[in-house]
Amino acid sequence: MAESELVVPRHVGFIMDGNGRWAKKRGMPRNYGHDKGADVIEEVVGACRDLGVKTVSLYAFSTENWSRPKDEVDKIFELLHKFLKRYTHKLIRDKIRLIISGDLEAIPEDLKNECLSLIERTKDFPEFSLNIAINYGSRAEIVRAVNRLIDGHFTSVTEKDIERELYTSTIPDIDLVVRTSGEQRLSNFFMWQCAYAELYFTDVLWPDFHKEELKKAIEWFSGRKRRFGGI
Ligand code: FPP
Repeated sequence: MAESELVVPRHVGFIMDGNGRWAKKRGMPRNYGHDKGADVIEEVVGACRDLGVKTVSLYAFSTENWSRPKDEVDKIFELLHKFLKRYTHKLIRDKIRLIISGDLEAIPEDLKNECLSLIERTKDFPEFSLNIAINYGSRAEIVRAVNRLIDGHFTSVTEKDIERELYTSTIPDIDLVVRTSGEQRLSNFFMWQCAYAELYFTDVLWPDFHKEELKKAIEWFSGRKRRFGGI
């Protein structure tokens, strides 16, 4: 498909699955897969931006991921921290606004501070947003939103009220979800924001998800007829 025929989604969400299996296939520890997974993020985010996508969301660590062995959890946080440090230059140079969705209270203090500092430094970039879900779960996000409204003495709420209290209040709904590694579920990933998203599943494992794979997903999206409940 020629690039001019592509219908480019405004907001793409990635469920980056299959790092562990990718490593296992190579006889390596699971953390090696996460390492490689972190490496492809820069390429994929850059390619999204080049194609005209305006917002990218990444599922880095879910509220359910705490049940993994402690050394794997520690390693994912460490990787995230390294990734943000390495990526800072590009965030500023390419004017990428960083948004973090999730409860940062339970994550390591140095990672939390890095996140808060980068959110502040990039908050005025209007063109492109990168939303990383860390210690995130969609149900917890909705419960949090409702509790914030209760604190504000609301006695009944509208969809708009809830939307205002979500971590994603400043970005549009997700148009396309890409999940790698053959699993076909949302796993508590921005369920409110995905209400009308197209869902693309591929058997490719996340560390193998390069530009060409992104192009395939967007070509597939271009062929979808989005009706939003109409006919
Ligand atoms: C799923 O693969 C992946 C994760 C739970 C973590 C994703 C984290 C990264 C890509 C690295 C850090 C993130 C950033 C934003 C730098 P899995 O472990 O469930 O793989 P498996 O299903 O093959 O076991």
